[in-house]
Amino acid sequence: MSEVRLDGVRVLLGVGGGIAAYKSADLVRRLRDAGAEVRVVMTQNATRFVGALTFQALSGNPVRTSLWDESAEAAMGHIELARWADQILIAPASADLLAQLAQGRAEDLLGTLVLATAAPVSVAPAMNQQMWAHPATQGNLEILRQRGVLVLGPGSGSQACGEVGEGRMLEPVELVGQLVAGHRPQVLAGLRVLVSAGPTFEDIDPVRFIGNRSSGRMGFAIAAAARDAGATVQLVAGPVGLATPAGVERIDVRSARQMRDAVIQRAAANDIFIAAAAVGDYRPEACAPHKLKKSGKPLALELIQNPDILAEVSALPDRPFLIGFAAETEDLERHARDKLQRKGLDLIAANQVGESQGFESSENALLLLWADGREQLAQADKATLARRLVEHIALRLQARAKAQSAP
Ligand code: CTP
Repeated sequence: MSEVRLDGVRVLLGVGGGIAAYKSADLVRRLRDAGAEVRVVMTQNATRFVGALTFQALSGNPVRTSLWDESAEAAMGHIELARWADQILIAPASADLLAQLAQGRAEDLLGTLVLATAAPVSVAPAMNQQMWAHPATQGNLEILRQRGVLVLGPGSGSQACGEVGEGRMLEPVELVGQLVAGHRPQVLAGLRVLVSAGPTFEDIDPVRFIGNRSSGRMGFAIAAAARDAGATVQLVAGPVGLATPAGVERIDVRSARQMRDAVIQRAAANDIFIAAAAVGDYRPEACAPHKLKKSGKPLALELIQNPDILAEVSALPDRPFLIGFAAETEDLERHARDKLQRKGLDLIAANQVGESQGFESSENALLLLWADGREQLAQADKATLARRLVEHIALRLQARAKAQSAP
């Protein structure tokens, strides 16, 4: 059972002309299941793919397909409709529709509504992969992004045209999830958040390295949750193959020292630093210039310690609010409290690793510890845990502000 999470939100769904329009019928149903009120506007081309009656039946509201419909205008004029919307979602957004929106053309009802609304606008592009990759399309998207339009997807996979690649409209369930995320309480509004995530790789020679089993998923989920809570997010990511959360600035690094430089450069400009990366504590003293050959004898690698990024940030004069992680196999609370103090953190998120828990699993549990308190976050998927952690960080920040303002 999904929670009802768009209760009372008025979603104006713009349906563009593309084969993915058939999925938008399911999207309407899911939006309503999530509690939203939905009105549908179709472009003329969209009506070639799906009948307006389908959307009318699913949304429970009349569907508009033209700017020049006198009876519809008499019932709810287009400006009124633009004001009615809390959110405009355009799905599917074809290449042509994106071009129209980028140019701000008001030649049809949907284009007019986008110009006339004060509501946030999201687009879910859907098109052939070549059309998606075309610089004209990418340029249009850039213009829209700069205007604050949220671009949802697209996904990649097999396409209706028989090709495989990027350009598939996100599934309705994902689109609803992203809209829901956009309506979360903005507990970190106006704050800047820096997140480190993933493992670090320390090169032994040109083909070998020392790494660890961190997937980076927790850090990426935290970056997305902080973004959803209204923060501006920078994500310093070790080598992982995860997609960058939309709207998050990502800085890719490989080694602990690269991660250190990337973090230190940005730390003081941020309000919060969340160190979710599993930084390699040691690295080979030097990376061999050529591939090491076996010699028939044991091979000893001399390892030297890496900088402790979190401790360095903690020592900065203008340091951000600091959250560290502690992955422990035993004595969780004692080791984590020790790290909290030793590294001068404001909060530490401790988790038990081993067997089926932690690094590679999709679920996790976190024990939050701070100077004079603790809270257990129950086992959940990483996105849920990340959201709870972000909410908790906001609470701790509030508590600190209150303590600082007390006489
Ligand atoms: N961390 C860091 N830089 C390092 C090592 C760790 O920023 N070189 C951060 C991690 O991102 C994490 C926390 O510090 O937030 C983990 O603390 P740490 O003491 O390094 O944990 P362990 O490596 O588990 O330490 P120990 O070996 O002492 O158990």
